[in-house]
Amino acid sequence: MATARGAEYLLTLGRWRRGLGLVTQSRALAALVPGVSQVDNKSDFLGKRSHRRHPGILQLSRVRLPQVLVDAAQLLLLESSMPNMEKQVQALTNYLWSRHLPVEPEELQRRAVHLEKKFLENADSCQMEKLCGEVLHALRRTTYHWQELSYSEGLSLVYMAARLDGGFAAVSRAFHEIQARLPEFQPQTLMDFGSGTGSVTWAAHSTWGQSLREYMCVDSSAAMLELAEKLLKGGSGSGMPYVPGVFFRQFLPVSPKVQFDVVVSAFSLSELPSKANRTDVVQTLWRKTGHFLILVENGTKAGHSLLMDARNLVLNGKEKSPLDPRPGFVFAPNKKPKEEKFSMVILARGSPEEANRWPRITQPVLKRPRHVHCHLCCPDGHMQHAVITARRHGRDLYRCARVSSWGDRLPVITPSELPPSPAQDPPES
Ligand SMILES: C[S@@+](CC[C@H](N)C(=O)[O-])C[C@H]1O[C@@H](n2cnc3c(N)ncnc32)[C@H](O)[C@@H]1O
Repeated sequence: MATARGAEYLLTLGRWRRGLGLVTQSRALAALVPGVSQVDNKSDFLGKRSHRRHPGILQLSRVRLPQVLVDAAQLLLLESSMPNMEKQVQALTNYLWSRHLPVEPEELQRRAVHLEKKFLENADSCQMEKLCGEVLHALRRTTYHWQELSYSEGLSLVYMAARLDGGFAAVSRAFHEIQARLPEFQPQTLMDFGSGTGSVTWAAHSTWGQSLREYMCVDSSAAMLELAEKLLKGGSGSGMPYVPGVFFRQFLPVSPKVQFDVVVSAFSLSELPSKANRTDVVQTLWRKTGHFLILVENGTKAGHSLLMDARNLVLNGKEKSPLDPRPGFVFAPNKKPKEEKFSMVILARGSPEEANRWPRITQPVLKRPRHVHCHLCCPDGHMQHAVITARRHGRDLYRCARVSSWGDRLPVITPSELPPSPAQDPPES
């Protein structure tokens, strides 16, 4: 592989200015920053591969549901006598995508006090009873009313029709991230919290079917568990399951004694009624995690926000596992593909040095004549807007950047990993 000549520099936009003179808009934003990033040549990352297939590329161009699963789902829908299925599917989809997080009791209290103050300021004399009524009325009008979904037999079927493919695709992408980066990882056991239709089990079987021998599906809804089991048996209540080793439970086993290689919660933390409840569940899930904890939620503000809470909970070490003291680190951050918008975080046990530390592309890559704009999230957590050119960064990095997309990792070394350059200018503040 050709080495990247002159590849020590990236242009960083927005954070740096050069000189004080008049500059054009792009020059005002873009300046040369020495020693920021260079292509990661030490690992011979391309090998015999073309740039188009560089190992930072993680997107899954297309995900297909296994045909047996499609057939089973279609059979169950045909057998059901539910009226207006399409309308119900649309209504549930809209509801799930527009859902906010439940308002916490402390926040409600704060809002009530604020409203009470406001009313008292505006009214000369106000009877206590009337005031209470008005505060409650205003609170009801202005506060998001979160509702717990009860997955009955009917709603489970509607959920299956609405979300089986999207859920399967999102989780497949998360599994693909681990498989692509750690092909030697061969999990034997998996636990799925809020397993619903069982899409996680199907996706895990498609990815690691050779090694997985136990899938523990936990769901509080008996109807969902029954539906998932039927799907595994081709849509019927009897027969052999398509995936062997699947167990169903209604309660999360809390004992930390048994850990699972992979623990997943897909679109289920958002079903829990409070932050305290989510904290409890995340702590339990982390205790049950042997290697990877994969959390997936909708690609919405609410989904992202609760994943950040979960991530911080694990990273800040508030959760102490009596049997497994290994700390956690973020193995993979968010990805937002075109078809299925989701947020995900993959937490791993061990040390981050074990995982390859290339920065991740966090926005669509802008390809322009002879240069490429990449927004990067670097391993040390700082964000960088890099403008990559072949002349400055070498052909390898330029070509890799041109064929990469949002969510991929760029094979570069970032400043925290580079020795300080003696010629480096101090940054302007
Ligand atoms: C939105 S569905 C997600 C299903 C599945 N993970 C998927 O990706 O399609 C959420 C599931 O979580 C289950 N659930 C909600 N609260 C739960 C709890 N406290 N314990 C276990 N399961 C729960 C619901 O019954 C429902 O099946």
